[in-house]
Amino acid sequence: MQNRTSCAPLVVLISGRGSNLRSLVQATASGELQCEVAGVISNRGDAPGLAWAAGKGLATQVVDHRDYADRATFDFALADAVNAMAGSTADPADAPWVVLAGFMRILGEPFVSRHQGRIVNIHPSLLPLYPGLHTHRQALADRALLHGATVHLVTARLDHGPILAQAIAPVLAGDSEDALADRVLAMEHRLYPLALQWLVSGRARVEGGRVLLDERDAIEERILLHPLLGGTPYGADPT
Ligand code: GRF
Repeated sequence: MQNRTSCAPLVVLISGRGSNLRSLVQATASGELQCEVAGVISNRGDAPGLAWAAGKGLATQVVDHRDYADRATFDFALADAVNAMAGSTADPADAPWVVLAGFMRILGEPFVSRHQGRIVNIHPSLLPLYPGLHTHRQALADRALLHGATVHLVTARLDHGPILAQAIAPVLAGDSEDALADRVLAMEHRLYPLALQWLVSGRARVEGGRVLLDERDAIEERILLHPLLGGTPYGADPT
C-alpha cells in the first residue's frame, strides 16, 4: 500500500458547489485516497466549494478567466498557479495531480501539455455519450435506461481521454433532471476517490491510450454499479 508522503500532491480545480471536492477530502482523511490535497483553485471567487475549502484550512486561490485576454493566457496562468500551489520542483516525479471537480472552463493545449498525463476529470455521463453540459437532461430526453459518470484522463479535447472507471445508475420512471442528477452524484462521490487512488498509487496506468489496472484491462473492476442494478458490491466475487 502506498505511503501518503510518496504521492504527489493533488490540486483540485472547481467552479461551483464542490461536493466532489468534499468527498475527495473526506477520502484523504479516511485513508481511502492516500494523498494530500495541496489546495483548491477556482475560476470563480464566489464558488461555494472554495469557501468550504478555506474553512477546512486548505489553501485556496482564484484564477478568474475574465482577468485574461484569451484562453491561452488563462491556461498559462492556471498552469503556473497549480505548480505554485503544489510547490512543484523541476523533478517530473513531483508533478502534481490536477483534479477537475466541476471545473467549468475548457482547458486548452497550453494547460494540458504543461500537465500532460496528470489531469483527471469526472463527467456526469457514460462517456463517450453526452460530452458537454446538461447530460442528465439529455439522458431523460433520450429515454435512456442507464446513465452514470466517468472518470477519465484529460486531453485537449472536451470530455475526452482514457477512461479510468465508470459508475452506472438506472434512469427511473418519473425521474426529474434533479432526481437523476442526485442519483448519479452519489455514485460520483464513490467513484472519484476510488479511481484516483488507483492512479496515484500506480495501480492504474495508461498505455497506448487505454487504461490498465494491475497490467490488465480489468473492465469488470472498473465499473461501479448502482445498488438498484443488483450488482455485487465493488470488489466482491460475483460467482
Ligand atoms: C459533477 O456532476 C461533476 O461530474 C461535473 O460537475 C459536477 C460538479 O459538482 N463535472 P460538484 O461541484 O462536485 O458538487
